[in-house]
Amino acid sequence: MENLTVAIGSDHGGFEYKNAIIEHLKSKNIKCIDVGTYTKESCDYPKIAREVCQKVLSNEASKGILICGTGIGMSIVANKIKGIRAALCGDTFSAKACRAHNNANVLCLGQRVIGEQLALDIVDIWLKSEFEGGRHQRRVDMIE
Ligand code: RB5
Repeated sequence: MENLTVAIGSDHGGFEYKNAIIEHLKSKNIKCIDVGTYTKESCDYPKIAREVCQKVLSNEASKGILICGTGIGMSIVANKIKGIRAALCGDTFSAKACRAHNNANVLCLGQRVIGEQLALDIVDIWLKSEFEGGRHQRRVDMIE
């Protein structure tokens, strides 16, 4: 996971987990670009989702992480952006599979849905899992 830069963002519903994930990744020397939100004040998740996705598409970041209350709003927005394959994960199996099979470049999490330790475990597994290519590449090409 060396030379990995992660763009990360949340709305107010994912604010605590965003900060926890940033601390966690920094402790592993993984660089984070924090696009906000920076306070607990209510804000609009579509704007944050777009900012993170743009950093991934411009290669400023290798991958993106988005957190809101459910993870659903973030994933709906992210998946409307061409070139983004966002996976909303609530378990570690899906975190691995969405990299291996779908080459997901954005991970979405729901702070009001899963515990913090599970969120950190999902992030770790997602970041270290590789795309398998082969027949999965054909399917990813079909999405694009
Ligand atoms: C904010 O209240 C909440 O709607 C948002 O965090 C997210 O869950 C939307 O999908």
